Amino acid sequence: MKIKLAVFGNPVAHSLSPLIHQHFAAQCGHAVSYDRILVDQDFASQVQAFYRSGAQGCNITVPCKLDAYALSTELTARASLAKAVNTLKFLGFDEDQQRLLALGDNTDGAGFFQDLQRLKFPLKQAKILILGAGGATRGILPPLMDKSAQVSSICLVNRTPAKALAILDDLHAQIAGAEHLALSACSYDNLSPDRDFDLIINATSLSLHQKLPALPDALYRKASMVYDLYYTPTGTTVFTAHARALGVAQCVDGLGMLVGQAALSYQLWTGTLPDIQSTLTYMRTVLQERA
Ligand code: ATR
Repeated sequence: MKIKLAVFGNPVAHSLSPLIHQHFAAQCGHAVSYDRILVDQDFASQVQAFYRSGAQGCNITVPCKLDAYALSTELTARASLAKAVNTLKFLGFDEDQQRLLALGDNTDGAGFFQDLQRLKFPLKQAKILILGAGGATRGILPPLMDKSAQVSSICLVNRTPAKALAILDDLHAQIAGAEHLALSACSYDNLSPDRDFDLIINATSLSLHQKLPALPDALYRKASMVYDLYYTPTGTTVFTAHARALGVAQCVDGLGMLVGQAALSYQLWTGTLPDIQSTLTYMRTVLQERA
């Protein structure tokens, strides 16, 4: 049976998801079609039409992750925590209520977490600084806050500190066992250069605009890894380049997270977890050839 999938978003023409999922399909010996669908009308109607065309599920990218959350008739625990959905698995159609039945998942956080494991970053007792307090931060926080990760502390720094505090308050109330963790939030101005963090994660949109966060260089110098959720063909962003120049040992872009979240979506649809490392190597080559 041919598996029919797509990514919904606006814009969507740039999305690498079709290439990633075609690579997974070839690896797993599945027959998969994976399209890009521009959301230019009502999101729910477009998804419903896709289901009616014989599709099994879809990915959702900006700005539709909240619409997908609202459309889901069931949610995974991680999608409930993220309050956003990047993967829908179609379950059927309720003819009485005339509505699509779909399981909503969010694989962004687990994809990121998996990438830290691939990179062998030691999370146990780690002190983590996260820059930004948007949807991306909300997505990656739950697995880092989970007791099993054994992280020591997480500090969120954001231009609008109230947004960082609101995320922490909300997640802290929902994640059982997060009491072991020292959580804090502040503005860039109030972040002391005397603090030290093992891992600094850039979850802002700054790299997209070739801008650096207003972070003291002293903080980079004490970190063993920086991770930018943004990715580039070469694997270097303005943020990782700055960190590397200051001596940070491991400086990583977000391509591994992108492939990781895709692999977990693919697993939800097909039951098979594809190999991430070989797909990551392939995607890096494709991006470099295109650049
Ligand atoms: P996403 O959903 O991908 O996380 P977002 O919700 O637009 O995207 O969030 C982007 C993050 O980058 C936000 O935390 C934003 O800060 P605010 O919450 O104060 O808006 C941060 N950001 C964007 N531009 C910034 C800038 N010039 N300086 C500092 N932070 C910035």
